[in-house]
Amino acid sequence: MKAKKRTGGERLVRAIGAPLGATQNPFASSLPFHHSPLAHRRRFYHSLFTSHCRLFSTRQSLFASRCRSKEGWVVSKVAIVTGSARGIGKAIATRLARDGYAVVIADILADLAEQTADELRQQGFSALAVPTDVRDEGQVQRMVEEAVKAFGGVDVLVNNAGVIWRASVTETPTDAFDFVLAVNLRAAFLATKHVAPIMRGRGGGVIVNIASIHAFATQAGMAAYAASKTGLVGLTRACALDLGQWNIRVVAVCPGAVDAPMLRNQRMDEAEVAETIRLWSSASPLNTILQPEDVANCVAWVVSDQARMLTGVAILLDAGVATDLRIR
Ligand SMILES: NC(=O)c1ccc[n+]([C@@H]2O[C@H](COP(=O)([O-])OP(=O)(O)OC[C@H]3O[C@@H](n4cnc5c(N)ncnc54)[C@H](O)[C@@H]3O)[C@@H](O)[C@H]2O)c1
Repeated sequence: MKAKKRTGGERLVRAIGAPLGATQNPFASSLPFHHSPLAHRRRFYHSLFTSHCRLFSTRQSLFASRCRSKEGWVVSKVAIVTGSARGIGKAIATRLARDGYAVVIADILADLAEQTADELRQQGFSALAVPTDVRDEGQVQRMVEEAVKAFGGVDVLVNNAGVIWRASVTETPTDAFDFVLAVNLRAAFLATKHVAPIMRGRGGGVIVNIASIHAFATQAGMAAYAASKTGLVGLTRACALDLGQWNIRVVAVCPGAVDAPMLRNQRMDEAEVAETIRLWSSASPLNTILQPEDVANCVAWVVSDQARMLTGVAILLDAGVATDLRIR
């Protein structure tokens, strides 16, 4: 059966989950259609209410792209965050939503992406889940198109989706190496390529690549991951040079260990997770590891006008771990 074409207003209600969505319409009636004066009055109020809903949701979306954050320095716009169904990406999307951005939750985990977008909408934010495998150019293109369709453009792209493969270079299957590079590096190239013309049309934008401390110093057993994140820093510099003419800034944020799924999901039991956290904390002059919100705060600053002179650089956000040569 051919799907019913949605009006712009309906698409917005669906996209941003306006609190006054039609399904919650208190005037909706289960009674059959008839011509009583009461029914006329009810239909009148219903249509008044529905048009108000549409106007409200359109306004909410426009408002979302114009208001200012509590901090007073982020002009609110539209952001795509890849890999934002959970972990660091979710923290970044949540922070940007709080700063007034309409956010696109793009993740390969479709159900979790919808759940995250739903959580944000329930808090009154504008959020749209777009199931995306960032390795697939067609899906990346669709992700950008959906953002434009729902919110009118893209001002910020955060390339956060990432995977890790722990094995020494001789034990890393070639397919695994290709897989890690496809998600961590090639996907950032694809998203940048397709989003930059949209940003250009808006007069500029900011692209943030979530790299890693492993782009600066690494550990044994990290061949694929370190190569991908070092490549991402190189891509950041090259894109900053190519896109600066269109007022597009490109910055890499390189976290040290973060208490987020990637650290916990590496086939480690609880004791190993605790030991990993202890080791990374003890390597930090601050004796701690990062929380996802620490990365989100850094990204929020990078995309703000406060950082308008920042491009082509990699910010090492590692609680000081890489400062120590450990040679006494
Ligand atoms: N956790 C850390 O200690 C740490 C440290 C430095 C950098 N990072 C980087 O931060 C980012 C987020 O990591 P995290 O710790 O939140 O882990 P995570 O595993 O929760 O984050 C990865 C997200 O990317 C999504 N993803 C994976 N493959 C995808 C694909 N092909 N298409 C679309 N989405 C895909 C996952 O579903 C997940 O939601 C990664 O790029 C990671 O390399 C993490």
